[in-house]
Amino acid sequence: MSNTMTLTDNRNGKSYELPIYDATLGPSVVDISSFYKQTGMFCYDEGLTSTATCKSKITYIDGEKGILKHRGYPIEWLAENKLFLDVVHLLLYKELPSVERLESFRYELKKRSFIHEGMHKLFDAFPNNAHPMAVLQAGVASLSTFYPDHLNMDVKEQYMEMAARIVAKIPTIVATAYRYKHGFPMAYPNLDRGFTENFLYMLRTYPYDHVKLKPIEVKALDTVFMLHADHEQNASTSTVRAVGSTHAHPYACISAGIGALWGHAHGGANEGVIRMLETIGTVDKVNEFIKRAKDKNDPFRLMGFGHRVYKNFDPRAKVLKKLRDQLIDEIGIDTNLIKVASRIEEIALQDDYFVQRNLYPNVDFHSGLILKALGIPNEMFATLFVIGRTPGWIAQWIEQKEQDSLKIVRPRQLYLGEVEK
Ligand code: ACO
Repeated sequence: MSNTMTLTDNRNGKSYELPIYDATLGPSVVDISSFYKQTGMFCYDEGLTSTATCKSKITYIDGEKGILKHRGYPIEWLAENKLFLDVVHLLLYKELPSVERLESFRYELKKRSFIHEGMHKLFDAFPNNAHPMAVLQAGVASLSTFYPDHLNMDVKEQYMEMAARIVAKIPTIVATAYRYKHGFPMAYPNLDRGFTENFLYMLRTYPYDHVKLKPIEVKALDTVFMLHADHEQNASTSTVRAVGSTHAHPYACISAGIGALWGHAHGGANEGVIRMLETIGTVDKVNEFIKRAKDKNDPFRLMGFGHRVYKNFDPRAKVLKKLRDQLIDEIGIDTNLIKVASRIEEIALQDDYFVQRNLYPNVDFHSGLILKALGIPNEMFATLFVIGRTPGWIAQWIEQKEQDSLKIVRPRQLYLGEVEK
C-alpha cells in the first residue's frame, strides 16, 4: 500500500496524489506543499485546525487522551520529580541535566539575570497604570538595543547566548515592571537563591525586611512555570515561529510571542478566571453564570474551560488541582473563590452543553487561584505565563533555526472582495 492520498476534484474528475508522512506518535500528515502547483487551488483552514505547520521533536500532545510529553517525558512525571530549570534544560539542550550540569546551568542563568541599568529609564517612562504585559513586551523587544552583541544568528554560540539572556532576564524584567508599577524600591536578583525562589524574592523584598519564602510557595510557582514551559504549536509559539521564519532574532520573536500570549483566549485566560470567580462571588450565583455561558446570544464564556487541543482533562490542570489543595492545607488560600470554582467544575462536568463539546477545565482554571494564593496580583498573571513559556518558545525557535531549510511563513487567502471598482 503506497503512502499517498488520492484526491479527486468532483467538478472535472481529475485526481491528485499527495504523499503521507507518519509521525512517531499521533496522527500522520498529508503533504500539501505541492497542492497549489498541482491543482491551482489553495487549502482553506481558518484557525489552522487541521494543519501541521512544522516538524518537531519537542512536545507531544494527545488531546483526546489528555497526554502531554516533553521530549518523551510525561508532564506528570516531570512535575513530580524535576524542577522548572531541569525542563528548561530539557527543552533547550534536548536532555535532562545531571546534578552537576543543573548547577552550572543555574549559574549561567544567574550571571545573566541582571538587566542593563539603562533599562530603568524605559520602565520609568511608562505610566503607573500600564499593563505589565505591555511593559514586558517592550522590555524584551528593547533587549536587542541594550545587548547589540551576539545578534549574529548564523553562529550557534551567539544565538544560544541570546537564548540564555532571555530566559535569565525575563523574570527580572517582570519583577522590575511590578516594582515600578507599585512604586516599590528597586530589587536586584539575589544570587544565593534558585531561579524561581529568586523571582518570588524580587517581587516581595523590601529594604528592611528579611524575605522568608515557604518551600511550598516556591514549589507551587516552580510547578506553574514548568506546566507552562511548552505546548507545541499554540498561537504564541506559532507566532514566534512565523516571526523567526523571516530570520528575525530571538528578542524580536519572543516579544511578538508575548503579544500573542496576552489575549484572553490564550495567556490572558487565568486573569479572566479570577475576574470571573470574583464577579460570580458566591456559590449560589454559579447556575446563573453557567446559563449565560451556554447562551449563544451572550458573549460570556466560562473562562478556564475548553481547549483547542484537549478534548479530555488537561493533564496540567490535574497536577495544579492537587497543588492547589496542598496550598489550602499548608498556607491557607481564599476558599470562597475555590468553592465557587469547585461548584462550576461540578456542574459543568455533568452538563450536556459542556459534555457534548468536550469542555473541561484547562490549566488556567487552577493556575490563577494558585497565583492569587501566592499574593500575585491578577494583572501579573500573564507575565508569569511568559516566564514559564519562554524556554518553549526559544526551543522551538532553535529547532526551526537548525532544520535543513527554512521557508518564510506566508499563508494565502480566499479573496472575497471587490473584483473591480
Ligand atoms: N464557555 C462556553 N462555551 C464554550 C467555551 C467556554 N469556555 N469554550 C468553547 N465553548 C463552545 C463554543 O461556543 C462552541 O460552541 P458551538 O459549537 O455551539 O458553537 C464550542 O464550544 C467550540 O468552541 P470553539 O471556540 O470553536 O473552540 P476553539 O477550539 O476554537 O477554542 C478556546 C478554544 C479559545 C480555548 C475556547 O474554549 C475558550 O474561549 N475558552 C475560554 C478561554 C480560555 O480558558 N482560554 C485558555 C486556553 S488554554 C491556554 O491558552 C493556556
